[in-house]
Formats: sequence, structure tokens, C-alpha cells
Amino acid sequence: MKGLILSGGLGTRLLPFTLALPKQLIPVANKPVLWYILDAFKKIGIKEIGVVVGENKEVIATKMNEVLHQDLKLQFIVQEKPLGLAHAVKTAAPFLHNSDFVMILGDNLFDESLEEALKIFSEEKADALLFLTPVRDPRRYGIAEVKEGQIISLEEKPTDPRSNYAVMGIYFFKNSIFEAIERTTASRRGELEITDAIQELINAGRKVVPYIYPGWWMDVGRPEDVLKANRLLLNLLTPDSSCLVAPTAMVSGSTLKGPLIIGENCTIVDSVIGPYTSVGNGSSIKGSSVENSVLFEKVTIQGFKGTIMDSIIGQDTAIYEDSSGKNIKKFFLGAGSTLTF
Ligand code: TTP
Repeated sequence: MKGLILSGGLGTRLLPFTLALPKQLIPVANKPVLWYILDAFKKIGIKEIGVVVGENKEVIATKMNEVLHQDLKLQFIVQEKPLGLAHAVKTAAPFLHNSDFVMILGDNLFDESLEEALKIFSEEKADALLFLTPVRDPRRYGIAEVKEGQIISLEEKPTDPRSNYAVMGIYFFKNSIFEAIERTTASRRGELEITDAIQELINAGRKVVPYIYPGWWMDVGRPEDVLKANRLLLNLLTPDSSCLVAPTAMVSGSTLKGPLIIGENCTIVDSVIGPYTSVGNGSSIKGSSVENSVLFEKVTIQGFKGTIMDSIIGQDTAIYEDSSGKNIKKFFLGAGSTLTF
């Protein structure tokens, strides 16, 4: 069994942050989304992992090779253009050849448990297994119709949904998916869709089984998802709402309100931080208040009189002084910006 992570794509919904950092590397509770996926693979013993990348290849490969993962064998597979999830799988065919594989979308966060699904996939001898989750508004998702323990149809954003089971971004496949992709044509939006390829499998009489996921799951595709995922993970990391402060961080004259996390080599002076705030490595906050926000690495905030709230602040960013009094300010600030009031 091999792993496949799809980390190509454009990440347009997360601009301006994705100008400097692919969305799969956006930190949530100070850890890139991709790292959580690697942890999930490790837990079921998958060591050979292909990572489909696009124009972001250099930054993803450098960061992944830098930080980790000696026990994993990573291979980066370049998809020239983001022509759809099935196209990404097709691009990865030489890496996957005869192996079964687990595919996870690189912006998916979940509680990292794949064990049960792996068991079902092998016991059922299925051609594919799809993680499903019940949703309130099925018209916004790819929806699976389930009958007698099998998926019998898939439909993208149906106007008249046949179920409320949305397809998440986690799939188990046998090699039969490649023939199904060959029979698939581009959709109206010009992409080779994985849902169409799986429908091809079903049409060919292959066994596609559901796994109704009991854990939590979300995809981190929009700025509000980054803030939501950050709150969720901080709650999980600190069930007692404590403060996780790296040993190399220096905190003085400040109030810390958990749950929060402060990274390596941060300096926090005369400030109020939290709750629900992640401060990336190498950041410096002086005389300021920050709440419910995600700060990437090396963010400087100095003398900000109001409260910075519900904000996402890219790396190497600086905010200096605000003389406008005690009001609340919300920023979505891309990497390398400087704001001076
Ligand atoms: P999406 O969120 O559907 O697309 P995107 O990343 O381009 O984002 P946006 O819609 O904001 O522009 O992609 C889901 C995941 O799959 C994401 O991790 C990127 C990856 N992907 C590929 O690897 N190749 C592709 O061709 C596509 C469409 C996505």
C-alpha cells in the first residue's frame, strides 16, 4: 500500500496567502496541514508516499525535506497543470504502478485515523473505498448514493440530492482506477474529475464501498477555514485550555489566555495573547493584543493599541503602532507586508 497526497492546485480561494506559501503548508496550530496527513499515513504503516505538486514544487519539496521525515520515502510528482484530481492520479501512475494506494487531498484535515477503513477495504476486496460524511447542505458537495453497503452513484453538486453523504478527500484505490480514468472525459469545467472516474468504475460493475467517517474532518480551502481549523486543533491539543509555549520563546509582562500556541524563538512583551491564537516561530509581539488569529512565521507586531482579532497574518509581516484607540481590527495580510499607522 502506497500513499498519494495531492498538493498541486492553485489555492486561489486562499489568496493572498498562497502567493508565498502553498495552501498545504499553511500552518494550523503551528503545523502545516500536510504534516497532519503524513502522521495519518505513518499510523497505518505507509512509508512510500507520492506528493503531486505543481508550480509550488520547490517550496513544498524543500520544506518537506528540510523538516522531516527520515522514516518516510517521499517522491515528488510534477503535474504540469492542475487539470483535475483524476488527472493528478494519472500523472502519478508510474509511481503507483501495481500498488493499492490511499489518496488524500493535501488541504484535508481529519483526526488521522485510517485503520478501520484500511481493514474494510481489504476485507471487502473493494476496487475503491470512499470516505463519506453527512452534511447539512448536500447541494454544495459531491454526493454519494449508498445502497446495500455499496456506492451506486456519485453526483457533483446535485440540484436534487439522493443522499446527504458528501465525498471527503480521502480515497482507497486499486489499480482498476487507471482504466476508469482512461475512459473518463473532461468535465464542463475542463477537469478530469475523480468522481467521474469512480462513476466509471461503478458502471463497469466494480465494487465501490463507503466508509462513513466517524471522526471530524474539514478542508482548509478558505481563510475562514484556517481560523476554524486553528480553533479546533488548539481545543484538541489543549483540552484544559492551557498555553503551549515553546521552551525557546521569551514571554514577559504579558497575559496569555489559552488555548494558544507560541512557537520557537518568539518574543512576547507587554502583550495580551489568546485565546485561540497561534504564533509562528520567530515572531515578536510587543505592547499589543491578539485574539483568535493565526500568525505565520516571523511576524512583528509593535505598539498596536487596539485588538487584532479573527486575523491571518502571513510570514515576514510587520504591523507597527496604531494610534486610533481601542478598537478591534481584522487583517488578512499576505507575506512580506508592512503596515504602519
Ligand atoms: P481544490 O481545492 O479543488 O483546488 P485548488 O487547490 O486549486 O484551490 P482553489 O479552488 O482555491 O483554487 O484542490 C484540492 C486539493 O487537490 C488541493 O490540495 C490541490 C490538489 N489538486 C491537485 O493536486 N491537482 C489538481 O489538478 C487539482 C484541481 C487539485
